[in-house]
Amino acid sequence: MAYQVNPVVAPVAPPPIAEAEAWIAGRDFPADKPLMDVAQAVPGYPPADALSRHLAEAVLEPETARYTEIAGLPALRGALAAHMRESYGGEVAPDQVCITAGCNQAFCLAMTALAAPGDEVLLPVPYYFNHQMWLEMQGIRPVHLPFRRDRGGVPDPADAAERMTARSRAIVLVTPNNPTGAVYPPEVLAAFLELARDRGVALVTDETYKDFRASNDPPHGLFADPRWPDSLVQLYSFSKVYSLTGYRTGSIVCGPALMAEVTKIMDCVAICAPRIGQRAALFGLAELAGWREEKRLMMQQRVEALRAAFTANDLAYELVSIGAYFAYLRHPFTGVPAHRVARRLAQAENLLCLPGGMFGPGQEDYLRFAFANLEAEAMPDLARRLRASQDWPDF
Ligand SMILES: Cc1ncc(COP(=O)(O)O)c(C=O)c1O
Repeated sequence: MAYQVNPVVAPVAPPPIAEAEAWIAGRDFPADKPLMDVAQAVPGYPPADALSRHLAEAVLEPETARYTEIAGLPALRGALAAHMRESYGGEVAPDQVCITAGCNQAFCLAMTALAAPGDEVLLPVPYYFNHQMWLEMQGIRPVHLPFRRDRGGVPDPADAAERMTARSRAIVLVTPNNPTGAVYPPEVLAAFLELARDRGVALVTDETYKDFRASNDPPHGLFADPRWPDSLVQLYSFSKVYSLTGYRTGSIVCGPALMAEVTKIMDCVAICAPRIGQRAALFGLAELAGWREEKRLMMQQRVEALRAAFTANDLAYELVSIGAYFAYLRHPFTGVPAHRVARRLAQAENLLCLPGGMFGPGQEDYLRFAFANLEAEAMPDLARRLRASQDWPDF
């Protein structure tokens, strides 16, 4: 008799990026209309040359092949804590940092440490699909907060307050947001933290895109409150900021109660994050502030270029929100599911984006563009392809 697979995992949706990539599998694209891939958010440029050289040397050291401490290299934990103090204000100590194999793993560890099967976690729609998927796989119930288009995609703490029950364990906020690009204002985040504290749940922020914001101001003031370790859990990724998605390095910043559980889980799951990725992150924090700033400014130029291309082409697509890495567009084909629109854009316009439906219920009017993948000069071509789609004869 064949084995059976876990009935909790089996019904979870398959990886969305792979599904979208299948739409273009095996196709050749003409030179005058090459593939424009704004599906997966991946920096289109390589890591800093100095970082790659540093790692090339590091690989020759026998120690690089060894495990690190469960929570990561002490030097990296110290450097990230210092970076947090400097960029957010407030107190963050090295022992409040756990280095993980990417921010996705950070989320998985944090959620498994916070919530048991049957518990509830509040998740604003549209959500980052891997968050929804992991919660489902754990038997944790995602409780959705509605998409607040009227608030520029910024969730409302009042919506969360209404939906909290005795089973609520955490509120998850992604800021800057994937998929909408919205950057949540500090006062909204403060209100969420107050609500979390009031109800005895965790506020979990995923700040993967914090380094690509329009401003260098602190993203929020939550760490300034000395009580933050009781209620706040911050997740971060080194993937995008230093262009090292394949090295798998992220982090959790949290108080001692959660850290004790997170390190237990980490020990079982991976023992530690890959040492080479940790070395990369440490080099980035220590040496690449200038490079980081250069990329932030470049990303702002891309935002401006996309906005300008939209204005110049008078598109029926509506730019609902745009931010650090993503733009969320409302497509003009009323009543047509976003999946159909996205597939057709891939087939007819060689433009690969993700349909809103991948980010939660009620998102069929929307498409996500990871515009940061494209150079500013490519934005007019992107807009032209959208313009061309408006003339599809049979749609
Ligand atoms: C919001 C968000 N969190 C986490 C991740 C995953 O980051 P990592 O590569 O560090 O696992 C992504 C990647 O797209 C993301 O958009």
